Amino acid sequence: MLAASREVVAVTGDSVSEAVRAASSLDGDGAPIVVSNRQPYSHEYEDGEMSVDRPAGGLTAALDPVMQTVNGTWVAWGSGDADRDVSDGGAVRVPPDDPSYDLQRVWLDDDQLEGYYYGFSNQTLWPLCHSDTARVRFSTADWEQYQAVNRQFAESVTSAADRQEPVVWFQDYHLSLAPRIVRERLLPDAFCMHFWHLPWPGWDSFRICPRAVSILDGLLANDLLGFHTPEYCRNFFDCVDRTLDASVDRDTGTIRYRGDTTTVRPFRLGIDAAAQAEQARSSAAEAFARGFRDEWDIGEDTRVAVGVDRLDYTKGIERRFDALERVWERSPEWRGKLTFVQKGAESRSSIPAYSRLQDRIDDRVAAINERFGTDDWQPVVYTTEMLSQERLAGLYRGADLALVTPVRDGMNLVAKEYVAAQVDDPGTLVLSGFAGAAEELGDGAELVNPYDVDAVADAVERGLRMPATERQRRMQTLDEQVHENDVYAWIARQFRAARSVQTGQQYEPPPRRRSH
Ligand code: G6P
Repeated sequence: MLAASREVVAVTGDSVSEAVRAASSLDGDGAPIVVSNRQPYSHEYEDGEMSVDRPAGGLTAALDPVMQTVNGTWVAWGSGDADRDVSDGGAVRVPPDDPSYDLQRVWLDDDQLEGYYYGFSNQTLWPLCHSDTARVRFSTADWEQYQAVNRQFAESVTSAADRQEPVVWFQDYHLSLAPRIVRERLLPDAFCMHFWHLPWPGWDSFRICPRAVSILDGLLANDLLGFHTPEYCRNFFDCVDRTLDASVDRDTGTIRYRGDTTTVRPFRLGIDAAAQAEQARSSAAEAFARGFRDEWDIGEDTRVAVGVDRLDYTKGIERRFDALERVWERSPEWRGKLTFVQKGAESRSSIPAYSRLQDRIDDRVAAINERFGTDDWQPVVYTTEMLSQERLAGLYRGADLALVTPVRDGMNLVAKEYVAAQVDDPGTLVLSGFAGAAEELGDGAELVNPYDVDAVADAVERGLRMPATERQRRMQTLDEQVHENDVYAWIARQFRAARSVQTGQQYEPPPRRRSH
């Protein structure tokens, strides 16, 4: 058993404690080793002074309190001079003001980063897993870098594990080969678990990957493999069945391959819902929502719809603009009475598909504002400004409607953030049926097919006209889901499943939910 090095009660919130308890119940010597491409803390130089940046939200922020309590090790890519200086060839203790776990950085040179991150991860696996096969690019040189970097991560895990049987938890598509390297070449008795944050595509898409066999072989070195939804698990079983000489048992959710068993389970990722609601209630959030209206001259009786996305072609931002244009075109009463706020976050800009998307969005916003705007109304407010968690929560809270319309998305946490931030008069969530979140939130959201422009336009108008009682009823359903399945429940469920795998306990499948 792992001994929690600090009192569980030192961490706020029952759900965090539950996650810590589950992590602490695992067999294996030493606390868990988390392995991810992105790091939980980054060091930076500002005017010659070293400062530390924490992720504003997301998975790394949620795992951090758990890691602080179980005193684990985190292996991640270290990216700047300050990271390197402070690490001094070894691990750095974090958080800086209360050091409680090791952050061990993996250093990559420009060629490695190009091939591993910008190449195979983000131009082969990313479009492939989002079933956007036309965008899939493959180069042998990228693949070689991807293999080399996975080896480097695996070696770093080995040096982080001071004992022979660690529990190693890999995150995401950057690291599909590392589990096999750890298990076969470095630490044969490690317990390996992996969570895949992207959709898993159907076999018909996956088969185009020229290294399909190696990817599956790497992932099947894990004892436990998690996806967001049962559908992604089913796709994974199909891909294994049709590609490898493996025995797939869909009833027990296990795969026998090369003499070992991998248990495959759905674990839907959530957010820190309590923190999000608290931020939405803060005076900073309220002040921001009010100030934002003033800054952009959004009149009191003008409704606000919001979109918040990393600038990625999977997010369906341009189709969303098509739908909004359709609303203003066919229902002129919304001109001057509906403002759409799109908050974008620049991402992976050195990949042409991403930089071109950014340019197209700039042009599109200008064209819509030119076409419909008046002296006292700007239809689309577009900002790429970084917002604090409180301000973002204020933006959500102040919006009458959220448009979360990806063409494909593993889960989509923006949908959940919007829900948790509806702390007073609730708005409406318009949600794509092609986001993993639709499986859970489909009952309370306005579910749409983002390819059907008229249907999305209808959903926007319906959402804006929805009576308060109906909005409240729907939001209550959504809010319960988002709080019950928060990120700490996600962590706890995975560590409990890992414990079942370790002890050979019978698996109890989760209750079946309606799928859309
Ligand atoms: C997705 C992936 C994450 C990734 C994030 C941001 O959510 O699943 O692993 O960190 O996108 O992308 P970036 O390339 O900036 O890490």
